[in-house]
Amino acid sequence: MQTRELKIFVCEYGSIEELPEADRQLIYSARDAAQKAYAPYSHFYVGAALLLANGEVICGNNQENAAFPAGLCAERVVLFYAHARYPDVAVKSLAVTAIKNQILTNDPVKPCGSCRQALIESEFRFKQPIRIISDGKERIEVFEGAENLLPYPFKPGLQG
Ligand code: THU
Repeated sequence: MQTRELKIFVCEYGSIEELPEADRQLIYSARDAAQKAYAPYSHFYVGAALLLANGEVICGNNQENAAFPAGLCAERVVLFYAHARYPDVAVKSLAVTAIKNQILTNDPVKPCGSCRQALIESEFRFKQPIRIISDGKERIEVFEGAENLLPYPFKPGLQG
């Protein structure tokens, strides 16, 4: 038996001004998308914006449903739409933000487990990591690749 130690990395920024311009624009797009979320049950309004390798920015938000599992998180809404629209184009980065009681959450909002797995599959498909920008009022966190959020993921095509 041997024990393996894994390292995961996150870059923390104290304010949006510290980030490169492209990331700032993506965060503003995610904040704007959060305002348009359909979240009448949780009142937790999540916005996501992603930058594709072709330079296009695509936005999405959470879509809830009275039959709860039928709804979908902002990250998967935008990721699946991007891949449906541009099936051959990789995702470079994705910003996610959440609004609760009309204000940004203090803590940077991070993709749920299912969204992390969906991001991993996109990375695997296009063989490049996705930069994940997690927005919050107090700080912004940047993860260089979804495996910094989901170590030991299920990897499509590598199992069995
Ligand atoms: N939600 C997202 O859209 N993204 C996340 O990263 C976390 C959760 C949504 C799902 C649901 O509509 C609401 O937030 C409350 O969980």
